[in-house]
Amino acid sequence: MSALAADIADEGVKDAIVSVRDLQVQFQTSDRRATVKAVDGVDFDVRRGETFGIIGESGSGKTTIGRALVFLVKPSAGAILHNGVDPLALPRRQFQSHRRDYQIIFQDPNAALNPRMTILSSVLEPLELAREGDRAQRLRRAREAMDRVGLPQDVGDRYPHQLSGGQKQRVVIARALTLRPKLIVCDEVVAALDMSIRGDVLNLFAELQRDLGLTYVFITHDLAVVSHISERIAVMYLGRFVELGPTEQVSERPLHPYTQALLSAEPRPLPSSMRSGNRIVLQGEIPSPIDPPSGCRFRTRCQYAQALCAEQTPEWRELARDHWVACHFADRPSFSPN
Ligand SMILES: Nc1ncnc2c1ncn2[C@@H]1O[C@H](COP(=O)(O)OP(=O)(O)O)[C@@H](O)[C@H]1O
Ligand code: SF4
Ligand SMILES: [Mg+2]
Repeated sequence: MSALAADIADEGVKDAIVSVRDLQVQFQTSDRRATVKAVDGVDFDVRRGETFGIIGESGSGKTTIGRALVFLVKPSAGAILHNGVDPLALPRRQFQSHRRDYQIIFQDPNAALNPRMTILSSVLEPLELAREGDRAQRLRRAREAMDRVGLPQDVGDRYPHQLSGGQKQRVVIARALTLRPKLIVCDEVVAALDMSIRGDVLNLFAELQRDLGLTYVFITHDLAVVSHISERIAVMYLGRFVELGPTEQVSERPLHPYTQALLSAEPRPLPSSMRSGNRIVLQGEIPSPIDPPSGCRFRTRCQYAQALCAEQTPEWRELARDHWVACHFADRPSFSPN
């Protein structure tokens, strides 16, 4: 066990199914001349049975965190523990079987489904690759999973192009369920679906969580989606978390100027103080993660930025119980929207 992993184990966050400490994920640009710091020092724990939401603009590093959580991409530094265990320290065989407990679902079901395979073969595939049970047991489990997600059995003989977007996403969910995971990372899973069926698919996720005791990490750029489904929300900006707390607190009393800007841009549920036209317009684009601003990364777009913000990186502080923020001035009363 690495020293960092040992520290996490010592901290004893008892109900953590995932613990992340100082996670960094870097990529080389295609010309290999620069390093993209996609995730650059993130700490959090996901509690067993909860839905942990991550929001932020496109390019902030959400997908990279999701992929790292299930070890589709290797951390460049820091540690990720699953149930207190460092999966990277497991022998290869054990690592492969361990990974089945931690699944990820992406936005586009078309990318996840082979157009030439029937739906039933697609749902069976993970069980076959994992060599779970005999053929009859695998079939039973695949059919059970299809039932669970509300797909009629006759859909099994069809091909992806014969299904609607919502049905295809249900197939992808069924595929993930066959392996009986403990945690599912859901990356923009309703973003590609028609508004009219988003609610149904979100309700399906909630129902599966209740029935199967699943834990979710729910990644989205859509605040309405994340506040509908998550107990806690993390707000991500340029490779770091800027705020983390219970959904109600973060959406009613956002402490970070970036969260305040995101909320004020939302047409729907707004904190009361923002309903009367206090819209904060975020200026400019998110800077490049190749060369992020010094000090506070948000400073180039923050209406409250001061000299200190360029000089010092704000500490990650717990300002209220369970409510964390990284901003030098977040505890100033004049700064809060309430
Ligand atoms: N495989 C990769 N190679 C190089 N850069 C990458 C790779 N994956 C992601 N990035 C870069 O990392 C940053 C974060 O990307 P991503 O995690 O997809 O953010 P989000 O999901 O929040 O939109 C972006 O600047 C993106 O271009
Ligand atoms: S630290 Fe400074 S720049 Fe960063 S969010 Fe706070 S006030 Fe704005
Ligand atoms: Mg993404």
